[in-house]
Amino acid sequence: MIRSQQASCPVFKPRIRDQPWLNERLHQILSRNPAMIPTPDLSHLTTKDYDHVYEPAEDTFLFLDALEEDAESLKNMHASICLEVGSGSGCVTSFIGKILGPSKRNNWLFAVYLCTDINPHACNCTRLTGLQNTYLPIKKVDINPVNGSLATPFQSRLVHSVDVILFNPPYVPTPEEEALIAQTSKDIGGAWAGGWDGMRVTNIFLQAVEGLLSEKGRFYLVALKENNVPQILKTMKDVHNLTGKASLHRPFDTFVVVNIHEINR
Ligand SMILES: C[S@@+](CC[C@H](N)C(=O)[O-])C[C@H]1O[C@@H](n2cnc3c(N)ncnc32)[C@H](O)[C@@H]1O
Repeated sequence: MIRSQQASCPVFKPRIRDQPWLNERLHQILSRNPAMIPTPDLSHLTTKDYDHVYEPAEDTFLFLDALEEDAESLKNMHASICLEVGSGSGCVTSFIGKILGPSKRNNWLFAVYLCTDINPHACNCTRLTGLQNTYLPIKKVDINPVNGSLATPFQSRLVHSVDVILFNPPYVPTPEEEALIAQTSKDIGGAWAGGWDGMRVTNIFLQAVEGLLSEKGRFYLVALKENNVPQILKTMKDVHNLTGKASLHRPFDTFVVVNIHEINR
């Protein structure tokens, strides 16, 4: 089973948590694939939270699947800094925490998990999801959300230092004005409104990626077919010397995960 099928499974939607027979049946089906890295527990988030914060959906679960496909090589990177831009509910960072491992072990610092979101409600949900999904005290994944735009809170301090960058941006093509208002109002509209080609916010961030990535760094980006993925890859290569590929497509090529994995400095 693929995780995006889980996305349409009500068991992960708190909204219909009150249908125990359905939950039980779905748990039976889902537990047939024990090898799958579990989707983070989001049961602490409510419909009220999702009035203001992006509820994990098809794109989020595709993102988790793409990270899971790369789990072995991500683990072998021994990443020390992971940055998610636009963390929303905190589902994606909590998930990669399960792959990259704890922040500290025996008082030694391992991975640092940083997140930003323009929406303050999202930062709070990310923090709560981090707490909900931490491991045992000695193997804790500490998630540090910062309320700010893109990577601006870290840009000058993390030059060529970030090992894994994750971004599921507001990618939906909308009128430019809607995207502008959404960016200023910093609420749920900012989760999807992306301007005429859906790339208004993403294009700004793409210019910052090279400056952040470490020597072994990787960048994962969710995009829509309408965002012109070949053009994204070409710009990253021609302008920033970053080579990547489109790694996962689903469903019917609607969503793509772009994976930048080679840096030529
Ligand atoms: C499509 S949602 C993805 C949420 C979550 N990462 C996921 O995969 O479910 C996009 C997120 O980006 C955030 N966002 C939009 N513009 C942003 C900006 N300029 N800087 C940081 N975050 C932004 C939104 O608030 C929203 O939480």
